Order: sequence, then C-alpha cells, then structure tokens
Amino acid sequence: MKRIGIVTSGGDAPGMNAAIRAVVRAAHTKDLEIVGFERGWEGLINNKCRLLSPRSVSGILQFGGTILHTSRCLEFWTKDGLQKSAETLAFNRIDGLVVIGGDGSFNGAQALSKETDIRIAGVPATIDNDVYGNDETIGFDTAVNTAVAEIDKIRDTAASMDRVFVVEVMGRTRGFIALAVGLASGAETILVPEVKFTIDDVVGTVKQNVQKGKKSGIIVAAEGIGDTRELSRDVEKLTGIESRLSVLGYAQRGGNPTARSRYLAGAFGDKAVELLLEERINSIIVLQNGKVTTISLEESVRNKKPLDLSLLDLARMLAT
Ligand code: F6P
Repeated sequence: MKRIGIVTSGGDAPGMNAAIRAVVRAAHTKDLEIVGFERGWEGLINNKCRLLSPRSVSGILQFGGTILHTSRCLEFWTKDGLQKSAETLAFNRIDGLVVIGGDGSFNGAQALSKETDIRIAGVPATIDNDVYGNDETIGFDTAVNTAVAEIDKIRDTAASMDRVFVVEVMGRTRGFIALAVGLASGAETILVPEVKFTIDDVVGTVKQNVQKGKKSGIIVAAEGIGDTRELSRDVEKLTGIESRLSVLGYAQRGGNPTARSRYLAGAFGDKAVELLLEERINSIIVLQNGKVTTISLEESVRNKKPLDLSLLDLARMLAT
C-alpha cells in the first residue's frame, strides 16, 4: 500500500478536521501518500482532489466543519456515479480509502465497494451517533454539549416566565441526541422517534408536574418525531400553560469540537490507517466498551443501532 485517499461525506460533524489530521499524520509516519477528495463523493465523481501533507493539516484540530468540504451527492448513488468514482480512485492510484462520515456515508462506501477492489476504512463522524456497532461517533459529544448549553439558557426564561419549552434537537430519524441531551439537561419529557407517544401522555406529564409544584418545564423532542410546532401549540392549548418552541438547528453541527470528539478523532484516524495496512475486509472503526476496534462495513450497514431505552426511564425518574 502506497497511497490512500480520504473523503468526508454527508453532514459535517465537529471533529472531522481532527480526524483528517489524524489520518494524514498517521499515514505519513507509515510512508504513505495521502490524497484528499473534495466535497464528499462529488470529489470522487469529478476527480477533485489534492495531496495532503502533515503541514497542510496544521491548525485545523480545533475547528468544526471539514477542510475537505462535504456534500450530499445524489449522483453518487447512480451506477454511473459509482463507476466514475471507482475510475477516479484507479486513476489516482489509490490503494485504500478512508471514509469519514455517518450511516449514509457508510452505505455509500458499501455500494462503492461493489465497483472497486480498493480497501475501505470507515471513520464514524456524525452528530447523530447512529452507526451500528459503535458506542460513540466523532461529533456527538460536541453536539450534545452545545444543545445542553442552549437549554441551560432557555431554562432561565422558562423559569422566569413559568413557561414550557419544546426544544427540538437534530438526529434525523433517530433519538440518540435527544436522549443524551434530555438526560443531561434534566428535561421533564424526552420524545424520541423510537418510542410512540400521544399528546395526552405529554400533556399528562406537564399537568402532573404542575401539581408537584413545577411551574415550568423542558420537553426535548427529536426532530424525527414530527411537527414540533404543532406539539408546542397543543401543549399550550391543553394545559393552559404558555408553551414556546425552540429549534436548535444547525448550531448543533458546528463549533469547536470538545476534547472528547477530538480524542475519538485521533484514535479512530490512527486505527483507520492501521486497518488499511493490515486487514483484508472493508471495515469501520468503532468504539466498544471504551476500546477502539473494528467491525465489518457490511455488518454495520446491515444493522440498526438500538437506542438504550432504560435511559429514558432514568431521565424520567430524575426529573420528578
Ligand atoms: O446527519 C446529521 C444531520 O445534522 C441530521 O441530524 C439532520 O437531520 C441532517 O443532518 C440535516 O441534513 P442537511 O445537512 O442535508 O440539511
């Protein structure tokens, strides 16, 4: 193995730059050349790439986003897009490819693996934390901390004005962010797509809390549960307590990565290079019970990561 490619794909996540830096520097110490593809899969389709050196990744560790840029590229998913990508890899004499991204990016990597023999190593980086076989993705801790800091501020208004706030967090169709944010911010209710609920359940909890003497409350809702504006309106209508919606949005995806996200980026990036040099199957780097290890790419994309529902019970108990 002489030359490896690196691409960041899908939604950016805080710590992607730290991961690029780690891969480039780990590869350099093993005498490998590194080619960075730009704007995700688009860079593979259009052969947009540049050589990366240890110096070219200086001063990026602490910044969110990705210096390689990223995109959601629909063309990649066509037969033509996949073939062009495979051709670009061959043209650039790439022997192994590091894909930094989330679940969707790994599905893309799996599709690409049908068109090329080049070995692929996935590095999980997404705020959603929804990669099967992996306890924590790069960027998740940063997003959760950002959201918790915002809710701490929102509580000031909630408490001062005796209001309920529905706070919508990201996570696409999954509730990992909502669960962690809700637990860490002491939310009175946490709504995730994985657990069905009715408006009566939500209203019932608000009313019970009022009876217990709580005059305000936070409902953390994953974006995947549906219309949070309607939810907030219904809460106000059915409880008589003022309710407001706060959508935290893209702020969760940006900002300086926490130490935790940077640490994971360093450990995952180094392991990705090791994996490309040693293993024969396409794999992703994962954290399992505190240990950095690997699982096959195929296994990861075939399965759905379960949400630990016992944490919902814990959050409910602690918020009484
Ligand atoms: O996958 C990360 C994520 O931020 C999700 O939480 C969110 O649903 C989605 O990306 C937004 O995607 P886009 O960047 O395409 O608007």
